Amino acid sequence: MTMLNIENIHVAINGIPILRGVSFKLEAGKTTTLIGRNGAGKTTTLRAFMGLLPMQSGSVTLKGENIGITPAYKRAHQGIGYAPEDRRLVPEFTVEDNILLPSLALGLSVDERASRLEEIYELMPSLAVMRKRPGGGVSGGQGKMVALGRALMIARYALVLDEPFQGLAPALALEYARTLGKVRNKRPDLALLVTESSPDLLGEIADYTLQIERGEIQ
Ligand SMILES: Nc1ncnc2c1ncn2[C@@H]1O[C@H](COP(=O)(O)OP(=O)(O)OP(=O)(O)O)[C@@H](O)[C@H]1O
Ligand SMILES: [Mg+2]
Repeated sequence: MTMLNIENIHVAINGIPILRGVSFKLEAGKTTTLIGRNGAGKTTTLRAFMGLLPMQSGSVTLKGENIGITPAYKRAHQGIGYAPEDRRLVPEFTVEDNILLPSLALGLSVDERASRLEEIYELMPSLAVMRKRPGGGVSGGQGKMVALGRALMIARYALVLDEPFQGLAPALALEYARTLGKVRNKRPDLALLVTESSPDLLGEIADYTLQIERGEIQ
């Protein structure tokens, strides 16, 4: 089943065309990787379909419903979890509060929030260990794990990770990849999109691989 269908996205920034007709589908239960060198347009693609950048044209449908026009602040309700390339933790909030942040926008009940948090700690025990630490007090690699936990908080249908392995020390990269394997088992219908500049970092996780060059899928 197609979870997310992205069709013919065009984005220009300051009048310069950046994305030129980007189309692809994310299937339920499958992992798609989007590979492209620096500046190829990976982040711009994600920001466009997440509603964080205006598109000149294009459509985004989630389970057949057009969401391309939904304002970004309503996107949490659509069940697409997004871990941006710059992980943007709130430094003065604890790790736990950073994970909980997007769920506040969802207006979840206290019970629902607690049960989702418990599920995330089960998947990522290392987050439970550092839950009381300030967001500003964790390393870059640990911050990526926190950003994954935060994205999982709302990822009911799709999980979108922008260069998650970039700069991760080998031990953390292994932990991160193992966590994605557990997420696969725990949420078999989730559609997963992972970008990287080099396919070497992604190991065997891809069901489908897309290449992007100069704003076009090859
Ligand atoms: N805010 C902006 N202003 C001007 N140009 C931009 C802006 N954001 C992106 N670009 C340009 O758009 C192109 C695509 O950038 P994008 O960040 O999407 O690439 P990327 O594939 O994510 O690269 P990286 O691997 O470095 O993260 C680049 O040429 C970049 O210079
Ligand atoms: Mg990028």
